[in-house]
Amino acid sequence: MNKLAIIGAQWGDEGKGKVVNYFSKFNDIIVRSSGGANAGHTIYFKDKKYVHHLLPSITFDTDSKGFLAKGMVIELEQMIEELKVLEADFPGISKRFMVDVETFIVLPYHKEEDGLLESMRKNPIGTTKRGIGPAYQDKAARQNVRIIDLFDDELLRERVEEIVYLKNNIYEGKMHIDVDETVNYLLDKFDQLLKLGVTFTSASEIEDEIKNKRVLFEGAQGIMLDLDSGTYPYVTSSTTTAYSASCADVTLTDDDTIMGVVKAYTSRVGEGEFPTELFDEEADKLRKLGNEFGATTGRNRRVGWIDLAQLRYAIKKSKINSIVMTKQTY
Ligand code: IMP
Ligand code: MG
Repeated sequence: MNKLAIIGAQWGDEGKGKVVNYFSKFNDIIVRSSGGANAGHTIYFKDKKYVHHLLPSITFDTDSKGFLAKGMVIELEQMIEELKVLEADFPGISKRFMVDVETFIVLPYHKEEDGLLESMRKNPIGTTKRGIGPAYQDKAARQNVRIIDLFDDELLRERVEEIVYLKNNIYEGKMHIDVDETVNYLLDKFDQLLKLGVTFTSASEIEDEIKNKRVLFEGAQGIMLDLDSGTYPYVTSSTTTAYSASCADVTLTDDDTIMGVVKAYTSRVGEGEFPTELFDEEADKLRKLGNEFGATTGRNRRVGWIDLAQLRYAIKKSKINSIVMTKQTY
C-alpha cells in the first residue's frame, strides 16, 4: 500500500503536528523513526492541548497504532510521562504504542553531557539539551544501551558497567556516572512501560503489518537540521529527511507521497545560518503573530521571510512531491 511521509521542509516547527494530526485519521500506523524528545508536536483533541515529544501522533478516537522505530533515541522517563497524560483521558491507550527493541536510549547522563558539551563549545549549537547528540554519539561509538538490553538484568548490568567505566574515564573531573543508579533507573522505567502495556517488537516482526496497512511516517525537525544535508554543524544528530523511513524497513518510492510542510515564513531555534532572518521590531511582530516560542524549550524562535532557494534545496534532498503550507493567515 502507498505510504505517506510528512516532513518538515525548513528548520522544524513548520506545524507538522497539525498536518500529521489531520492525516493520521486516514492511517493505521503512525511511525516516528528519527530524533527524540528534542521534537515537540502539539496536538489538539476536543479543544484539549497535548504536547508530544516522543510519542507518534496517533488519533485518539480511532484504533490507529504508533510505532517508535529504531533511528529514534528514546528517553524512557519522558515516554512514561506522555503515556500517563494520555492514559488519564484514554485508558488503555499505551497498548497502541509499539517500540522497536533495537532503538537506543537517552539516559539522564546524556542530558548532563549535552549541557556540558554546549558549555565547552567555542560556538555552541544551541541544542535543546535533551541529550540527543550524546545519545547518538554513544550509539555510533558503540557505547550506548538499547531497549533489547533491558530484557536481561544481568546482561544489562554488564553492559552498563562497561559503558560507565569508559565514560567516567573520558569525563573524569567533569561528570560522574553511577552504575547502580543507571541500572536501577533503566529497570524501573522498563518495568513501568511494561505495566502500562507498551508493545515491544521490531520492524521485521511487524513487516507484514507495515506492508499492508496505511502507514504515515511522522518526520521530526526539518530538512535543514538533517545531520547530512542540513546546515552542519548547526544541525541535529539524526536524519530528518523522508529517508528515515528506512529505519522501519521501508523504502519510499515515487509512488509514495512525501509531503513537505512549509510555513509561510521561516523560523529557526538555535544557532546557525538563516539568510532571510528578520530582526528587531519586524521580527518581534512576526514572532508574536505566529506565536513563535519553542514547544520543547520555550525559547524565542528566530524568524524571517520564506526562503525559496532553501525550499528548492529541501525538495530535492527529500524528494518532496507534495507541499502543505501552514500559517498563511492570522
Ligand atoms: P538537538 O537536536 O537538541 O541536538 O539540537 C540541535 C539543533 O536542532 C538546535 O539548533 C535545536 O534548536 C534544533 N532542534 C532540535 N529539535 C528541534 C525541533 O523539534 N524543532 C526545531 N528545532 C529543533
Ligand atoms: Mg516542533
